[in-house]
Amino acid sequence: MFTKILLFFGLILLASVAYAGHKGAPWVPTWKKDMKRIRDLLNLQAGERCVELGCGNGRISRDLAKTTDAKEIVGFELSLLQWMVAKLQSRLDGSFTKTSFVLGNAFKHDLSGYDAVYMFLMPETYNKIQHKLESELKPGARVVTYVWPIAGWMPTKIDRQEGSVDIYLYKRPL
Ligand SMILES: C[S@@+](CC[C@H](N)C(=O)[O-])C[C@H]1O[C@@H](n2cnc3c(N)ncnc32)[C@H](O)[C@@H]1O
Repeated sequence: MFTKILLFFGLILLASVAYAGHKGAPWVPTWKKDMKRIRDLLNLQAGERCVELGCGNGRISRDLAKTTDAKEIVGFELSLLQWMVAKLQSRLDGSFTKTSFVLGNAFKHDLSGYDAVYMFLMPETYNKIQHKLESELKPGARVVTYVWPIAGWMPTKIDRQEGSVDIYLYKRPL
């Protein structure tokens, strides 16, 4: 009986990983060596709120919570497995006081209350979320994307580093 429950739970976890991969992007974590680059580009100030769309195991959100004076970092994740890991790790490393990990579709969340957004999704997913970002983000909000640009947007900065991927910074017009 216990084995069947375990198997059932395992299948649910796998199904949610596959579903999230299909909806926006498969789980591939941002490289640890690039965390500082992302932190520098986001440049979070005291009291600011940041959202990570598709936060995976929460690596970036937890790092931002621990290393910046931002008020709150919210991570959205569609896959149950990654969301559970993010929640657990935030408890273990103490970042839970400044992070909220939400199990759900990032496309359905109102983005108007954020000063900065971080995303590492697929280019076609950026195309789908572009209009939402344009209509909901406040003037001056920063958007940082890993690996791929947002088609049609003019980056404020492209951070290039040998041996790694490009990272793009955008600022919403004032
Ligand atoms: C490429 S991974 C990046 C993970 C994390 N942001 C990082 O940089 O380490 C993309 C993540 O987004 C999640 N995801 C895909 N579509 C999503 C959606 N519509 N809403 C919330 N999460 C989504 C996937 O489950 C996956 O964990």
